[in-house]
Amino acid sequence: MTLTTRTPSALASALRDIQAPVRTDLSAVSQELWRIVSADVPLVQEVQQHLMGMKGKLFRPTLLLLSASIDSAPPRKAITLAAIIELIHLATLVHDDAVDHSVLRRGMPTVNALFSHQVSVIMGDYLYLRALRELVTLGDLEAMRAITFASNEMTLGEIRQLAAFDALAFSERDYETLIRAKTASLFMAACDVGALCGTPRHRTALTRFGERLGMAFQVADDLLDYTEPQEMTGKPSGLDLKEHKVTLPLIAALREMDAGARVRVEALFASAEPDDEASAEVVGLVRQHGGLEYARRRADQFSREAEDALGELPDCPSRAALLDAISYVVERRW
Ligand code: IPE
Ligand code: IPE
Ligand code: MG
Ligand code: MG
Repeated sequence: MTLTTRTPSALASALRDIQAPVRTDLSAVSQELWRIVSADVPLVQEVQQHLMGMKGKLFRPTLLLLSASIDSAPPRKAITLAAIIELIHLATLVHDDAVDHSVLRRGMPTVNALFSHQVSVIMGDYLYLRALRELVTLGDLEAMRAITFASNEMTLGEIRQLAAFDALAFSERDYETLIRAKTASLFMAACDVGALCGTPRHRTALTRFGERLGMAFQVADDLLDYTEPQEMTGKPSGLDLKEHKVTLPLIAALREMDAGARVRVEALFASAEPDDEASAEVVGLVRQHGGLEYARRRADQFSREAEDALGELPDCPSRAALLDAISYVVERRW
């Protein structure tokens, strides 16, 4: 992560620049999303309206389309595949917010907060399965393999997180295994499927790029939970600690803590519903013990590896945009 913090408008403009080479196709992806999710059931329509009104960054479709346009113009099916990837992402967010008891997503109430936990479970399933039906209709077995593998990995990542029964014993290696599954796998699939649509000989490089970028993305996300207010991220800040989620800043800081500091962290983890004061105290301890710095350095290492993976690709606007996506991922504030 760089030393300077980019302003929200500089970041928004950086994202626009990254998306510029595939802007027209990305607008088509938004329309394709609507087409795919439409259903004739009033409650589904109501939830859909809400979800489609929440604007995400469309980061994974962007990666897919840029990966598909390294040496060629993306075929029409790349748009559908990009919409499928975004729908799978959206399904995991709907389920993730229910699991994390989160009330805010993209600056708006989550489905579990606005409707109910039950609606989240069913809507998440609905979105997954609409995406899978589209995938089957396309009939591209390689794309199907990549996307279903990633979806399965994501569920395993989420369950690993939930099942970490001694959270404070969670190691950096455990953390990396978890984020590779829950986040990097879908980034990998987006880039892999993009390469399949475009120039398959770039598959290895782009898949490696997607994996490293996804790792950097989740480390950065875990940092944002410590550093940014919810007005910036559009989701509750400090929620990871309140939900007893151990992420890299805490893992790194714990290694440096003496017994006195550790007792304070243990007290938070022993409390069923930690309050703002307890979580602010642990955030302070993590900061003092170098946890934020360590996670930033790790995100930077993943970024450099993502950059290396792009080394062998031909110079073109899409490759340049993928390079810019790397700094965006670690500098983003939402
Ligand atoms: C949020 O992903 C989930 C994580 C993997 C951290 P994004 O930050 O890409 O979410 P949206 O789609 O832009 O809201
Ligand atoms: C990422 O984990 C969510 C998925 C990959 C499903 P988080 O729980 O950190 O994501 P946010 O912070 O809620 O977006
Ligand atoms: Mg979450
Ligand atoms: Mg998070």
